[in-house]
Amino acid sequence: MNLKDLYINFFIEKGHKQIPSAPVVPENDPSVLFNTAGMQPLIPYLMGQPHPYGTRLVDYQKCVRTNDLDEIGDAVHHTFFEMLGNWSLGDYFKEESISWSFEFLTTRLNIPVERLAVTVFAGNEVIPFDEVSYNKWLSLGIDKDKIAKTVDDNFWIAGETGPCGGDSEIFYFRSSDEIPKVFDPEDTRWVEIWNNVFMQYYKDEKGVVTELPKKNVDTGMGVERTTAILEGVNDNYLSSIWKDVIDLISEIANVPYQNHEKSMRIIADHIRTAVFISADPAGIKPSNTDQGYILRRLIRRAIRHAKTLGIDINSNWEEQIARLILDKYKVYYKELEDNYNVVLDVLRNEKVKFGHTLEKGLREFEKVTKDGQNIDGKTAFHLFDTYGFPLELTIELAKERNLQVDVDGYKAMFEEHQEKSRTASAGKFKGGLAGNGEIETKYHTATHLLNAALKLVVGPDVHQKGSNITAERMRFDFSCDHKLTLEEKERTEAIVNEWISEGLPVTVEEMPKEEAIKSGAECMFIEKYPDVVTVYKIGDVSKELCGGPHVKNTSELGHFRIIKEEASSAGVRRIKGVLE
Ligand code: ALA
Repeated sequence: MNLKDLYINFFIEKGHKQIPSAPVVPENDPSVLFNTAGMQPLIPYLMGQPHPYGTRLVDYQKCVRTNDLDEIGDAVHHTFFEMLGNWSLGDYFKEESISWSFEFLTTRLNIPVERLAVTVFAGNEVIPFDEVSYNKWLSLGIDKDKIAKTVDDNFWIAGETGPCGGDSEIFYFRSSDEIPKVFDPEDTRWVEIWNNVFMQYYKDEKGVVTELPKKNVDTGMGVERTTAILEGVNDNYLSSIWKDVIDLISEIANVPYQNHEKSMRIIADHIRTAVFISADPAGIKPSNTDQGYILRRLIRRAIRHAKTLGIDINSNWEEQIARLILDKYKVYYKELEDNYNVVLDVLRNEKVKFGHTLEKGLREFEKVTKDGQNIDGKTAFHLFDTYGFPLELTIELAKERNLQVDVDGYKAMFEEHQEKSRTASAGKFKGGLAGNGEIETKYHTATHLLNAALKLVVGPDVHQKGSNITAERMRFDFSCDHKLTLEEKERTEAIVNEWISEGLPVTVEEMPKEEAIKSGAECMFIEKYPDVVTVYKIGDVSKELCGGPHVKNTSELGHFRIIKEEASSAGVRRIKGVLE
């Protein structure tokens, strides 16, 4: 059995419910481009909202971290990874969490105790020394010299604000050297494999830390790293997770992995991440902004390295690699099966687009740097604008030749160009889009009514998982384990239309988030709460935490009709609806 299955089964034995991995692109949280940790989609529940699956949860979560993109190419970094996690939402706390971690590592993964070491929170002026965790580890047989008390590394928060707390990290001695008597967390032969965060605080924008309504546990274990450790390899890309992908790349390029590690790792890593991003229900396509730009950069960098390896980039090399990855992961992530061809199309289209200009762009790059010149902003922008070289690709090429790129100069050129095209398109659309905001506002209010109606028709466990609104239609994703029957669809439509015809007033109120959550206000699945939130009420049929805007009265909406109901991802259905 592989690590993922062992982990999930173990925590199910301990009374946990398995929850599905949330999409890698949070649809309703504009503050982050991607989920970077297993806890991110669970923030509302860590803040106190009851979770429909109960108080003990376990999952494997898709995560993307692109802040250290430049480090990809070494043996241990990945832009996409899977994080295993178990959570207590006001249920068990430190003692159980630590005992189960220890039991899982030593009896299920059979890791010898001497290879393990841990850190615990040493205490500061706000939070005291974590004596409970310290004593627990001692009682389980971890030597006191293998328990390091630290402060900075033992406080965990995703970003700047949100639920947080002291943590206890578990390390594994990944080396054939003799295991040192005393654990030094700075010694890189010790690698962190698991983090247990005791999430009992909330940190706000001012840095003020307050107690959460409940004491939670949030844990995270990286699948790639732990698998490599269990399989005794120092290079993650030689573990069973990657080996077949690397072998395939080596076969396509007709060169060995040895001496070509960097390019092969980049191709393997970036294609895998591109597969997961483009298979996500958010429907991300390569572009020059946000997630689309990350996707573009990943694919184009993979293409560049494929070329470096001598791969004929016009062949179907990327498709072969993507298929291997899709086939490997689709049993765990249904969206890969559902969007199999979408993924292949995204990769192929981007390859064709970039393939046309890459060769010429590289020649241009050689020409402008032939006497060892650094790249000025204008040249970097020209490489982007004419040859489709993302800035980061130009920087990478420059680095390989010990040259500098004027990034500020590039940015100034980029902004100037954007300003020009903005003015041009504003002229083009003047008048034509004047009513756009109004229609969107109507659709926005309609999503609240639909959410409330679905709760009545399907059941109280229905929760919004995402939404997307254009001037033509609304799309609404919600948790539901079955295809809606015709009757359910008709009743939902009828209820929404009844509420519209009743002319219900839409009111808004600001309140502290705890109060809002306590009052039972509905909130989107992935939402981070500021201290004071706005709650929109529609008559007495709907109450949701939401930023607005909304119409004043439901009578403004017209007639609501469901035009499509389909699967979105595992346990999530999608409704497309129109107002007529
Ligand atoms: N949220 C914690 C982490 O990502 C478990 O390390």
